[in-house]
Amino acid sequence: MAMAKVPILVAVALMAAVASCSAREPNICMPLAEVAATAADDAVAPLIHALRPLLGSGGQLGSHGGVPCDSWRLGVEAYNVRDWKMVPANCEGYVGHYMLGSHYRRDSKVVIDQAIAYLDSLRLAGNGKEVWVFDIDETMLSNLPYYATHGFGARPYNATSYNAYVLEGSAPALPETKRLYNKLLTVGIKPVFLTGRTEDQRAITVANLRRQGISGWMYLLLKQPGFKGSAVIYKSGERQKLQDAGYVIVGNIGDQWSDILGAPEGARTFKLPDPMYYIG
Ligand SMILES: *[C@@H]1O[C@H](CO)[C@@H](O)[C@H](O)[C@H]1NC(C)=O
Repeated sequence: MAMAKVPILVAVALMAAVASCSAREPNICMPLAEVAATAADDAVAPLIHALRPLLGSGGQLGSHGGVPCDSWRLGVEAYNVRDWKMVPANCEGYVGHYMLGSHYRRDSKVVIDQAIAYLDSLRLAGNGKEVWVFDIDETMLSNLPYYATHGFGARPYNATSYNAYVLEGSAPALPETKRLYNKLLTVGIKPVFLTGRTEDQRAITVANLRRQGISGWMYLLLKQPGFKGSAVIYKSGERQKLQDAGYVIVGNIGDQWSDILGAPEGARTFKLPDPMYYIG
């Protein structure tokens, strides 16, 4: 309970920082400390009200009528919005800016910083049985070059063009994830890739990873032809097999909730941002 208080205060301070110079009297800018004190005095509601002029119509960042895109993205990342098929049409520009600007990289950095802090806190057994599970698409490799020319997820999924892109083997590594990956290698935790990519894509996936300077993984687990279950069933089943074989899953990272839900999840899970598509 005590811990929950800190992020709320930070969030209030952030909102206040934005609002402090933008209220109805724009010439009066309150010092940040004073704003925080005011916020602590239950004066939050008027400050939120004062935010409106800055955020535009009702805080609908990047929205031109329709769903407010920043709220939609938060809903997606928090797993409140589920089973969605496409980015809302009015949010294509918003998601595009998010992905291509610095925001996506910044959000990813927060996740990886937390993963590395967790890693640093571990007392490792160092027995060669400790593994870290990585998803591949939008986790180790980025398909942004494809999505940037196909509507950032706001157009219907096209298996033909997407698979053609995957078979080029040209997807760039995500720099923040690579930082974690390399750190794991130095401390003796073995990376395991667990991906929804299929067994027939093994050769190109290996080639793509190697081209991006990624090596030293223990297993590359791909979906077998004919597997019909959900991503959660598939991935948790594979993690169970790892555990049954005596491995300890010290960490598990992916961009989809289906990467990190379903026992055994791993001792700790990390969710990378992905506002472009949903895999259940
Ligand atoms: C899917 O992509 C292929 C290959 O680029 C293209 O020929 C086809 O028209 C696309 N299908 C749809 C429904 O857009």
